[in-house]
Amino acid sequence: MFNRLQQKWKVNGLQVALILCTFAIGGSLTGYVGRKLMNLFDIGPEWLWIVVYIILVTLLWPLAVLLVSIPFGQFRFFVSYLKKMGKRMGIVNRESETGIPEPVRQIAIFASGAGSNAQKIIDHFRGNGRVKIALIVCNRPEAGVLKIAEKEGIPALLIEKEPFFRGNAYVPALKEKNIDLIILAGFLWKIPVALIQAYPGKIVNIHPALLPKYGGKGMYGQFVHAAVIAAGEKESGITIHYVDEHYDHGDIIFQAVCPVFSEDTPELLAKRIHELEHKHFPVVVEELLLRMA
Ligand code: GRF
Repeated sequence: MFNRLQQKWKVNGLQVALILCTFAIGGSLTGYVGRKLMNLFDIGPEWLWIVVYIILVTLLWPLAVLLVSIPFGQFRFFVSYLKKMGKRMGIVNRESETGIPEPVRQIAIFASGAGSNAQKIIDHFRGNGRVKIALIVCNRPEAGVLKIAEKEGIPALLIEKEPFFRGNAYVPALKEKNIDLIILAGFLWKIPVALIQAYPGKIVNIHPALLPKYGGKGMYGQFVHAAVIAAGEKESGITIHYVDEHYDHGDIIFQAVCPVFSEDTPELLAKRIHELEHKHFPVVVEELLLRMA
């Protein structure tokens, strides 16, 4: 059940625990304050008491969970959770089909390889007037992702080592394109500090294993899967996380798990992992855009 909630809410395990605590304490607080208020008004017949109590509790509950979510560090989650509930009930206006608020969000996808994740993200937002894949950034002229950019009519930027690591990390070029969010989808160079500082909390990576295990320098592609199999792990998965100065290290946004079988080869496991990535990565990106104020 824990895993299902993690996938449904697109959060990590610790966050699920904090969210459940917020629900429990927020619910109790609502009941407590509701009863206190009811004692103030001496309402007559039993049925009227119940009706007024239900209305009161319904109004109090969002305030209570928002309040309790602050010390638990889950305020942003509950703001978007309540917004979603409001939309479902028709109380809050739908800003768009997807609920992503104006203005148009511009995404840059950084990739070094085939670009199957990039393709899934492009497909996911196709026809969405509020999200634009504005740029594909790549460091390898022969990478498949550049063909995808060409086919999709998305501008591509082929970057070089020197200006990326020792220069301005192409920050002006990204700012010029009004990039709001950077998605690393199989991008093999470490992100320089200049870029992290220019996009604080706006750079997201996907890693084909369950971090913090099997991450760090040299842990990419088949090397990750070979290490997972060699260690005799029974489970592997994907991690979507914010990017900081260290390899595969920033705060985890989302994880999903898949089995590792005794007969697995790195190729077989890679296929299973790719399926997980394709299923979840675009949805998590959309959730992140929703949370971006
Ligand atoms: C993915 O497995 C991703 O987790 C890793 O690199 C791979 C990229 O695959 N960082 P693709 O180029 O998107 O097909």
